[in-house]
Amino acid sequence: MTVVKTPAEATVACLAAKRAGRTLGLVPTMGALHEGHLSLVRKAREECDYVAVSIFVNPTQFDEGEDLDAYPRTLERDLELCDAEGADLVLTPTKEDMYLPGHTTWVQVGELSQKLEGLSRPSHFRGVTTIVSKLFNILLPDRAYFGRKDLQQLVVIRRMVRDLSFAVAVVGCPIVREEDGLAISSRNSYLSNDERTAALCLSAAIKAFGESVAEGERDVSMLLETLAEPVIAEPRAVLDYAAIVDAETLEDVKELSGRVAAALAVWFGNTRLIDNAIVDAG
Ligand code: PAJ
Repeated sequence: MTVVKTPAEATVACLAAKRAGRTLGLVPTMGALHEGHLSLVRKAREECDYVAVSIFVNPTQFDEGEDLDAYPRTLERDLELCDAEGADLVLTPTKEDMYLPGHTTWVQVGELSQKLEGLSRPSHFRGVTTIVSKLFNILLPDRAYFGRKDLQQLVVIRRMVRDLSFAVAVVGCPIVREEDGLAISSRNSYLSNDERTAALCLSAAIKAFGESVAEGERDVSMLLETLAEPVIAEPRAVLDYAAIVDAETLEDVKELSGRVAAALAVWFGNTRLIDNAIVDAG
């Protein structure tokens, strides 16, 4: 496995792989790697000849007052994990490498970026789409792997790829959960023991929603109640949003049909967690 710090070195390595006719898979991450990230690396390993992972805590996707400084950084362990999963290349740039002095160019996906997460985190997706564009340009992937854990991110990136004609296939991958149901996230490490227990209300809510749909419930306001109730009932949880939306457009749905997503964002103390599930309502 090759580890490079600069975008130029990464481009040289990726171009060489592509010139040798190898398909290139990219897994963009912010490090502090866990089973969720590793599931993406495994999928890329299965489908591509050459697997590149980027590890970069991207400052521009953190809004004012968010956890940029506190964000976990475990580079040495991350590199060991990438190596063990058979990654070919890891790019670990500095913020000076990724944002040159006077950087003023941004990639922004319109409306989709403003809903749900965008309401609480107004400049978040502009940071995500800008850095992901740069990573696509630097690493030239044929396929790029993203988790459905961050469903809106996946939807926004798909739209960006379509609208800007990036020659990249975006691959969405399933949410990886702890045994007790909590969706794995780097931010879970911020939770106190009590908050960790309380956080189970998120996956419980998502599960209750899925069961209710499976039992035939189609009334969206009833389903919203089912989704929000376990969170509202948990004293340590503060609901940011509970939404039932079209899985492609993220528009609120009035009637349940097609691919529909239930999405939740919940505060536990200073930690904000998200979860979601997609159902096919026929
Ligand atoms: P990060 O939070 O490190 O996540 C990197 C990738 O791992 C994302 O595609 C995310 O959806 C996926 N992921 C995280 N937890 C997961 C889980 N439990 N199951 C499945 N996939 C999971 O998302 C980002 O970084 C950044 O915004 C990035 C795209 C790298 C741009 O900076």
